[in-house]
Amino acid sequence: MKLDFDKESQIFHLSNTHISYVFGVLRNGHLGHYYYGSKIDGPFQVAYFRKAVNRGLTNYLYEDDFSFSLSHERLEYPCFGTTDYRMPAIHLRDKKGSNVVDFKYVSHLVISEKPEITGLPCARGMGETLTLIVTLEDSLLGATLELTYTIYSELPVITRSARLKNTGDHPLVIHQLLSMNLDFYDSDFDVIHLHGDWIKERHVERFPLHYGLQSIGSSRGASSAIHNPFMALARKACTEHVGEAYGISLVYSGNFTIGAEVDSDGHTRLSAGINPFQFQWTLNEGEVFSSPEAVLTYSNTGLNGLSQSLHRFITDQIIHPKYKGRLNQILINNWEATYFDFNEQKLMAIAKEASALGVELFVLDDGWFGRRNSDRAGLGDWYVNLEKLPGGIGQLSKAVHEMGLKFGLWIEPEMVNKDTALFKSHPEWVIGDPERPRSHGRNQFVLDYGRPEVVDAIYEQLIQVLDHASVDYLKWDMNRNITEAFSTLLGERQGELYHRYILGVYALYTRLLARYPEMIIESCAAGGGRFDMGMFYYAPQAWTSDNSDAVERLKIQYGTSMAYPLSAMGAHVTAIPNHQVKRSTSLKLRADVAYFGSFGYELDLTKLSVEDKAEIREQIAFYKANRETFLHGDFYRLISPFEGDRNITAWQVVSKGGLRSILGYYQVLAKPNEGLKTIKPVGLNPHGRYRVSCMESPVSGSFLMNFGILMKPAFNGIESTEVHDGDYQSRLILIDQI
Ligand code: GLA
Repeated sequence: MKLDFDKESQIFHLSNTHISYVFGVLRNGHLGHYYYGSKIDGPFQVAYFRKAVNRGLTNYLYEDDFSFSLSHERLEYPCFGTTDYRMPAIHLRDKKGSNVVDFKYVSHLVISEKPEITGLPCARGMGETLTLIVTLEDSLLGATLELTYTIYSELPVITRSARLKNTGDHPLVIHQLLSMNLDFYDSDFDVIHLHGDWIKERHVERFPLHYGLQSIGSSRGASSAIHNPFMALARKACTEHVGEAYGISLVYSGNFTIGAEVDSDGHTRLSAGINPFQFQWTLNEGEVFSSPEAVLTYSNTGLNGLSQSLHRFITDQIIHPKYKGRLNQILINNWEATYFDFNEQKLMAIAKEASALGVELFVLDDGWFGRRNSDRAGLGDWYVNLEKLPGGIGQLSKAVHEMGLKFGLWIEPEMVNKDTALFKSHPEWVIGDPERPRSHGRNQFVLDYGRPEVVDAIYEQLIQVLDHASVDYLKWDMNRNITEAFSTLLGERQGELYHRYILGVYALYTRLLARYPEMIIESCAAGGGRFDMGMFYYAPQAWTSDNSDAVERLKIQYGTSMAYPLSAMGAHVTAIPNHQVKRSTSLKLRADVAYFGSFGYELDLTKLSVEDKAEIREQIAFYKANRETFLHGDFYRLISPFEGDRNITAWQVVSKGGLRSILGYYQVLAKPNEGLKTIKPVGLNPHGRYRVSCMESPVSGSFLMNFGILMKPAFNGIESTEVHDGDYQSRLILIDQI
């Protein structure tokens, strides 16, 4: 891991054993981008780049010189205002109203410590890292710009962020300050991204890059289920297993944009950061504004390689080190078991069954506070509802602990219902224009977390509950997006609302974790509506989706795994008919899908048959025996539910060390008169000998990976002897090295 800086050519070459990242100072002092990809041995020869030619109808920077135009350069952090017309990274307004900016290289610094970004989550700099900070200046404007690059010893990853300081004597207005920009010499890519909505989060879409700008983003106040803050550019020939791909993720939970723009030369610009739409930040004299961090990942081993690097990066650099290697607790959540209709007896009965079956954590969901008997009331009144729980959370958590279970509690601290003391006493704390109607979502309104006093007030209420109970786990929910984005505090600075909001959310996370360092927070946003690296900085796991139907979960978990590790993905077995899609599937299928995540149950255990309980006991024992492999093994996607006839999904985990591998194979619908199929596991030792749960005698790793495992059709239309015939089938194949 090193930085080579060539003084003469002014070229920076950041590298580790996997990658090289190369950029340099251009003739006009701006930074030009040269290369990001597989490791290249230096020196990096770019002198011939300088021999630019006259391109005809182009605008040039120097008089009587037709050789230098930013239009045809690959740029590192493009400024708006001169000869480059593509999406800029920085767009400001000065006191004259001018938008022209010109940041030129001044100096650079190399440090071994990974800097933090004040108020924002970012990679932690665990292990060996190297950080390069390049300072640029626009002296006329009175501003300096610091671009920060960190490279990590074992990962093909570069993280980047930008920091603007007003060094002048008048305020500046920031319209756009992106986290990163990466220009490529070609556009031979497909775009891959994760789109969706509530109960259909992070579905995979792949399409060829075309001329012009194609972008994803959010303007909802949360990263959202509509688009996830992740995009990959994959070479056309890139599959799950081979080929080149680049990933870009943001460590941010608010409004974002990620865009790929192909220019007339067929070159591609990839950029990401805070969404400039609805963003405008006044930077007064002496003040600093930092962009969120962007994570650039490179793979030459296909999309699985890209995902595995991201999984490792999130586990090692984003999630707090105190959770490293953590064996997520198997939980029971009462939401789909009771909804709002519960009392202490009911909860205790569920907890008792759970404890007997081997569950480890009981999570009390929505409905324990205020007058919360439906979603019309209660949010904002964070005191216990004594009608439901006469002994309070203190007594309940004690009783749950006495059963040998940990205790978890649900909150939704960013929201308020109208019929609460909080709403009545402080209507100005609610986001919205007082002169216009406010839209509701699930009968609730969003608190203005950009106001420090709001964060204080919610914190004070929450600690009254948490201080007087023993809460091991907090489920932090967020069930609607911002509308009528207006803060009575901000006056003309409304463009700051969304970013200030998310800074307030991060501040409350920080304060709660400081006060309760042992408590684990699960993030949730009506399921996966804020499933991003920003959240994982605070909360090591998230509720993946409110959709717990096993068939729908194949797509959701497959897509989510593209950018996030299994340990972060909450996956529960729920009742049938399923509450979201009314589908009935076997208990086996529901568990076979949920094992590939942070496992739990969300159903009324007191209503199950003796047979079902026996099966659940076995499932829990199986998960416990293989938990480390599921949560921390290497995950491979094998067959996509988004491709082909979309009927088969397959994936696989390989334990650290490779001794055990578990392959999940899922068939949605039975097909008539089907022949044999094969499935080829990956990630095995070709020379190793393996015992396979569905084969009679051991075989070699090379046999398994090349010939594969023959799969009997679920139902061939003639005879049906297997119990597991028909629709909605799954098989788990255990592959053990001998
Ligand atoms: C959201 C969450 C659910 C549950 C409910 C409670 O929808 O995603 O898991 O907590 O809120 O109201």
